[in-house]
Amino acid sequence: MDIFRIEGPVRLSGSVNINGSKNASLPIMAATILAAGKSTLSSVPYLSDISVCGQLLSQLGCKISRSSNGDLCIDSTVIDNPVGEYEIVCRMRASICILGPLLARCGRAEVSMPGGCAIGDRPIDIHVRGLQELGAKIHLKNGYIIAEAPNGLKGKEIFLGGAFGSTVLGTANVLMAATLAKGKTIIESAACEPEIADLANCLNKMGAKITGIGSPRLTVKGVKELQPAEYKVIPDRIEAGTFMVAAAITAGELHLHNCRLDDMMAVVDKLRNTGITIDATSDGCVVTRKGPIKTGDITTQPYPGFPTDLQAQLMALLSLADGNSIIIEKIFPDRFMHVAELNRMAANLRKESAAVIIAGVKKLIAAPVMASDLRASAALVLAGMAAEGTTIVNRVYHIDRGYEKIEERLNPVGAKITRESD
Ligand code: EPU
Repeated sequence: MDIFRIEGPVRLSGSVNINGSKNASLPIMAATILAAGKSTLSSVPYLSDISVCGQLLSQLGCKISRSSNGDLCIDSTVIDNPVGEYEIVCRMRASICILGPLLARCGRAEVSMPGGCAIGDRPIDIHVRGLQELGAKIHLKNGYIIAEAPNGLKGKEIFLGGAFGSTVLGTANVLMAATLAKGKTIIESAACEPEIADLANCLNKMGAKITGIGSPRLTVKGVKELQPAEYKVIPDRIEAGTFMVAAAITAGELHLHNCRLDDMMAVVDKLRNTGITIDATSDGCVVTRKGPIKTGDITTQPYPGFPTDLQAQLMALLSLADGNSIIIEKIFPDRFMHVAELNRMAANLRKESAAVIIAGVKKLIAAPVMASDLRASAALVLAGMAAEGTTIVNRVYHIDRGYEKIEERLNPVGAKITRESD
């Protein structure tokens, strides 16, 4: 297992290109199931989660390849095994987003029930309820969700909200299934995340008829079939936010290219309030910190609110703020595995149910720490670049799931990170 050895403190300065979005790519890859033929996706990042999704699609019968320019080609002419095996699904929860498209294309799908993970229970009851509303018969057998709709799905008005608001992949599943359902589907309380809008735009390019894209009410007029498409995935707003915090926590200046500020207004607003300067450019922004870090109050919420996927990174930043801050987690109330690790680096964080009270400290001090999930490990890398001494981050495979060669992108702008096999 690889580790990161991070020397700090450093000041970052220079330019970084933001890659295509992982969380947009995964459901869009699943959407190719809906259309027999060869789809070509560009801006799909080279990440372990993307490889796992590729393996999953291959198991179904798809043929996956990367062309010389990096485009991801998915040939879904043949889908002869509509089964998402446990061995793959347990490695990546997002595998669940094949359920809807498989059911719509094949009339049957068997997908291993995803378990919990480091960020919480993560149920899929709303996915199941939404597909049942479209007429699917669903039961659980030997840990697998068996979904059947031999005579096709039927459009309906569906309320898809849950106790924590909308669901991103639940919306993706029901939306994809609805594109091939008979008649009109209305999804109320749909997730508004840019990744869902990107999926809907891709589906429309494939011939779907979706309106209300980006709003909580999606209307889908079912069509008989979809065609394969060429599609470019949007930039990764979570990666962009992580690099913004990298500039901020190191009192540096980073020019981010291929970054859509419009998708990140809540993040930009919070960072500006903590004393970070963010100036828009033609293809992104320049992020600079000159003065002290000001305190902040952050509550994670569904889009357009502050994203849970940047909660850990902001916690690392606010650990060094000039006073007390609070972060409340309203999406995944247990997503706080990074708290104890940041405290090992001399942060002063106190967890109170789904909130963390942050007493700002003057400096962080290097320590060996353990990455527990993707975004928590990003927070530890950020803290390591600001901390005095040599931080060792263990289990960096978590970070490789969502950030492409992060050390090779941070080192040219001033970081001192080495990857070692322990
Ligand atoms: N929920 C239910 N029932 C369901 C589905 C969700 O109660 O059937 C709850 C969840 O437990 C949670 C809330 O609804 O409290 C929202 O979860 P959501 O379904 O939106 O999460 P997801 O679709 O499984 C995606 C991202 C996550 C991101 C969340 C929230 C992908 C591949 N994953 O997960 O990304 O945190 O939305 O924005 O898009 C990450 O990239 O590190 C990551 C975890």
